[in-house]
Amino acid sequence: MINLKINTKENVYHIKCKEGTNLKEIIKNENINFIFPCGAKGRCGNCKVKALKGVEQPTSLDKIKLSKYELNQNIRLACCIYLKQDTEIFLNEITEYNFLDL
Ligand code: FES
Repeated sequence: MINLKINTKENVYHIKCKEGTNLKEIIKNENINFIFPCGAKGRCGNCKVKALKGVEQPTSLDKIKLSKYELNQNIRLACCIYLKQDTEIFLNEITEYNFLDL
């Protein structure tokens, strides 16, 4: 089992999951308010999260959709993350008061 910690501005989620699980599935299952604009098909490049621990090299889609600066800051596309080890990420949960800022 993998220990996943998801930090948002409002909450901290501690989740146990199977190796190889896609981060999008976990976010959906936990009802975390986060948007996958292209339906998690890797096309829009907008499901950005910050990897704090446990996410390895960027995927080929990360390299296409994210800037070098973002890659260096450990920003990754949530829909491209498959968990391989204990992982910690930060994401911007969509709340009423920050929705208009998007
Ligand atoms: S939801 Fe569009 S790239 Fe991830």
